[in-house]
Amino acid sequence: MVRVSQQKHPEPRPLVVGNWKMNGTPVTVSALLSALQRHALSGELTARADVAVCPASIFIPQALTVLAGTAVTIGAQNAAAHESGAYTGEVSAGMLAAFGVRYVILGHSERRALFGDQDDVVAKKVRQALNAGLVPIVCVGETLAERESGATFDVVRRQLKAVIEEVGMDALSRCVLAYEPVWAIGTGVTATPAQAQEVHAFLRQMLAASSREVAGQIQILYGGSVKASNAAELFACEDIDGGLIGGASLDSEEFLAICQAAK
Ligand code: PGA
Repeated sequence: MVRVSQQKHPEPRPLVVGNWKMNGTPVTVSALLSALQRHALSGELTARADVAVCPASIFIPQALTVLAGTAVTIGAQNAAAHESGAYTGEVSAGMLAAFGVRYVILGHSERRALFGDQDDVVAKKVRQALNAGLVPIVCVGETLAERESGATFDVVRRQLKAVIEEVGMDALSRCVLAYEPVWAIGTGVTATPAQAQEVHAFLRQMLAASSREVAGQIQILYGGSVKASNAAELFACEDIDGGLIGGASLDSEEFLAICQAAK
């Protein structure tokens, strides 16, 4: 499948994002941030890709401080579907933006499965994030049962369509997409490059039907058991523009190797 970008619009730089999930203590996060700071200041971490890390929200100010002055940007793992008000326990997109956060992961399958983030909620969160000036990383992906029943394309189409209906096609140019097959997340089972590329190409074609420009420009990350040992072959795929890295992003050396595998 030929990438639809056409030569008119140069492809963006790859993007590698670490999703730390609900991991870390003040001590381990300090150590991880120091190691990343060292790799960032030497230039090796961001030599081949833009790099962001998404710590649990309580560690975000620390991450912003330690990585200030490096090329590494900071993301959040979630944000509220509302602008402000009586939403106990929530953190708004505006709050994150005010602190200097750049990205926010939205629609992650763990949020969808465990916290009721259905398509419409994800879409509202994406709208809030865009309004606040954050770059949403919109995650889509099918479960194993959905893949086995042949519903993969229907599922990712439905998930993406809900976001487009809420924010419009043009706004999508200010988003990053992530394809994360649920069966590959945290399981050690990675989609083969061919399986991943097939869905990435499908998503890009779907966008191209409305806007070839957005389709060509948007970064589509692959996520699901990416490791240093499989990153290069995934990142070499035509429509894979980087990765969303869970478990392996908690190890600074492994994460560095993944960032260096970007094409
Ligand atoms: P994993 O997680 O790399 O640990 O599979 C990826 C993700 O959930 O973003």
